[in-house]
Amino acid sequence: MRPERQRDQDTEEEAMNYRLAYAIGFHPWEDLAEHPPFAGKLLELIAREEDGYGPPYGRALDLGTGSAVWGVRLAKRGWEVTGIDIVEKALRRARERVEEAGVDLRLVHGDVTALKEAGVGSGFRLVVDTGTFHGLDDVQRKAMGREVSAVTAPDATMILDCFAPRRRGQLPRGASRGDVEQAFPDWEITDVEVADTEPDLLARLLRFDERFYRLRRE
Ligand SMILES: C[S@@+](CC[C@H](N)C(=O)[O-])C[C@H]1O[C@@H](n2cnc3c(N)ncnc32)[C@H](O)[C@@H]1O
Repeated sequence: MRPERQRDQDTEEEAMNYRLAYAIGFHPWEDLAEHPPFAGKLLELIAREEDGYGPPYGRALDLGTGSAVWGVRLAKRGWEVTGIDIVEKALRRARERVEEAGVDLRLVHGDVTALKEAGVGSGFRLVVDTGTFHGLDDVQRKAMGREVSAVTAPDATMILDCFAPRRRGQLPRGASRGDVEQAFPDWEITDVEVADTEPDLLARLLRFDERFYRLRRE
């Protein structure tokens, strides 16, 4: 099978899981935005990109934005945010959140492995992904890496939140440092930080062992 067709088929399978999750109102990842150890570390990493600049800080891309819990935070801080997601129901919730927050945020329905086709634009200084990359397979990851490189500024920073690699059935299989390096050959990992979800029992049982990877374009 041609790589693009394989990618499309894999994307469709993965999207179905998320469609179902949003349809039944199961989106526990959103709670992390209100979990200080996790949110604090992520916001600390984001603040590093703001240091020495005044708002507006430039263009930020929220990959797999979901209901835009992080996209809205970025917009409130002074980033010009575009959020992309493949699940329409997630984007409907994102629109409500954006409206309630009274911020400007562009929402795009599309695939993170085909960013140009989705029309997200280019010149992004910051890319944030809380939980999408680590659920993709190798073909999709490679495509995402290529597409992210194509739409970002030469001095861009990316923050990826990944579970540790492990078989977890229908749940994301996670990604190692090596997986991240393989998918983003034009980028350098500068920091790896614990993404602390304690005392989340499910995370402990399934050994999510979550990490934030900070990458810079080389
Ligand atoms: C774990 S959720 C995280 C959502 C959001 N970032 C958050 O932290 O609340 C992963 C998100 O990635 C989206 N997603 C999965 N595969 C995708 C793909 N190929 N393209 C775009 N979005 C995708 C899902 O619909 C879901 O909203």
